[in-house]
Amino acid sequence: MARISEESIAAVRETANMAEVVGQYTDLKQAGGQMMGLCPFHEERSPSFSVEPHDKLYHCFGCGEAGDIFKFVMEKEGLGFTEAVEALADRYGVELQRDEEDPRAEAARQRRQRLQQLLERAAAYYSNYLWESKEAGKAREYLAARGLSEETLKNFGVGFAPSAWDKILVAGQRAGFTVPEMHSVGLVQKSERGGEYDRFRARIMFPIRDPRGRTLGFGGRATREDQKPKYVNTSETDFFHKSEILYGLDRARAAMAKANRAVVVEGYTDVLALHQAGMEGAVGVMGTAITPEQVATLSGTVDEVVLAMDADEAGEEAMLRAQRVAAGRRMRLRVASMPSGVDPAELMAEDDGPERFRGFLQGAAELTDFQVTRVLNRTDVASPVERDRALAEVAPIIAAMEEGASQSELIRKVADRLELEPAMVMGRVIASTPATGGPGASAADPGRAPRRGAPPGRGGYAQGGPGEASQQQAQRPVELTSRERQERALLAMCIALPEPGAEFLEQLGESHLSRSGQAAADFIRAHPEAPAEHIPRENGALAALITELVMMAREQPASKESMELNFLLLDQRRLEEEIAAAGERGDYERRAQLSRERAALVERIAHAQRVAG
Ligand code: CTP
Ligand code: MN
Repeated sequence: MARISEESIAAVRETANMAEVVGQYTDLKQAGGQMMGLCPFHEERSPSFSVEPHDKLYHCFGCGEAGDIFKFVMEKEGLGFTEAVEALADRYGVELQRDEEDPRAEAARQRRQRLQQLLERAAAYYSNYLWESKEAGKAREYLAARGLSEETLKNFGVGFAPSAWDKILVAGQRAGFTVPEMHSVGLVQKSERGGEYDRFRARIMFPIRDPRGRTLGFGGRATREDQKPKYVNTSETDFFHKSEILYGLDRARAAMAKANRAVVVEGYTDVLALHQAGMEGAVGVMGTAITPEQVATLSGTVDEVVLAMDADEAGEEAMLRAQRVAAGRRMRLRVASMPSGVDPAELMAEDDGPERFRGFLQGAAELTDFQVTRVLNRTDVASPVERDRALAEVAPIIAAMEEGASQSELIRKVADRLELEPAMVMGRVIASTPATGGPGASAADPGRAPRRGAPPGRGGYAQGGPGEASQQQAQRPVELTSRERQERALLAMCIALPEPGAEFLEQLGESHLSRSGQAAADFIRAHPEAPAEHIPRENGALAALITELVMMAREQPASKESMELNFLLLDQRRLEEEIAAAGERGDYERRAQLSRERAALVERIAHAQRVAG
């Protein structure tokens, strides 16, 4: 993929609206030149998250998350840097220039872009056809009878595919696309006699979109009883991999981030019905068991996922893998038991449905607990053979959990119910634990960049019942030493007042600063002008610190006098360290000399304090 030019990146930063982007995830209030709100990266009750709308930076005093607008989008939407720039460029209508790239990559990118246009045109065609055509009248009535509003259907771009064999084929060609192009995105397919014809006919069409809202494929629902199969989906193509997509994620991401919980359902209509009922954190797995890729995607946004689907039926193996990924990411997976044979869409059509559904979410059981209990309930404990079989079945499930209280509790429960020694159950669990370093480590992982720097000690909520997660994730303020406070104050002022700043930066040596302070000082020396536009992309800790400093520079008063004072305080600290070191070496002469220097310094500090007020 060609690199986006630095000019374009700057143009996106310039054009994008920081308050709006962040505002999707947390409510912000103006506070001086900055905006404050509840941190979207950790659970808290009073706001410690601040946003600098001009430089487009954010920083949380509670958990220490900080960065620029691109980092924010990367973190919250699970995107890489380039993708985040593209997503913002899309949203704010900035055209991206790319640096020279090799012609093959350039051709591939252009082809991809054309196919994307084709899919968007097709989605628009189907949607138009649903609302405008006479033929779709029955479908409109059917959808209305299921309680789905026009607003909801339009929000998800639902459409209708004509019953004729060649409508898309003809319309696509008329719009300038080739038959092979239509074939490659799955809109048409080959007949036995070699001709191509529309894949979707007389079906209600659900566009399947990526997290950025781009249409990648479709699910088409039959409109007549005798039309088989009930759903036809786009087949796997180069860029359509159903198992990696969560249906509705583009519409759900912000709401699920705010709630710190995702609700996962099976079907397209379930997602629509839940969103319409105000549960906008719902996404669909499109009829399969939740996959490790899907779990990984969600773990970038939420700490808890509730499966509101038939977990009885879902593939055991797939569930185990999903569970390992969840455990490895300290994400909580729960199962909401629905009345049998009723799916969320059907429930939402009833008067008290939304309320009942919320109750099922509240009462959801831990996935592992759910699975183990299910096996135990099916086991005839009078039969030793049955008990052995049950043990063999539950051991890998328990082994996929993180070690801890919940795991031991489950082991005790199994021992109890199967009338076995806990040590024996434990032995089987250990034997089933994936070899490479603990749960999660061996699980399939689609290789995303490591996610946000979750504060240490996060998690451990597996022991809690419903609703306890937030209490256990209480705010963890970042503790600073007084030296760090002084050096940060000084460095921030060096940014605010670059001219005197340059002088102080020259005087600041390694012995004045902490390690992170040294790195920050080097950075400011290298980028005295507009440091906000050069936040390093490769070093997360430094990026966070620079962000914080730039934000402090904007907010806190700076003067040459207070810079002097902070510098002297850091210098005193340096002296104290040297005095102590001299004493330890037994170099008393040097210590006496340094002590005299200290006396002079203390005087200067007293003077500086009076001047700085
Ligand atoms: N599905 C599929 N192919 C099928 C059947 C189902 O891809 N042949 C997927 C679809 O994503 C579907 C989901 O599995 O939405 C759940 O299937 P099902 O419960 O049969 O359909 P519903 O979503 O409940 O559809 P409806 O409510 O319209 O009956
Ligand atoms: Mn249904």
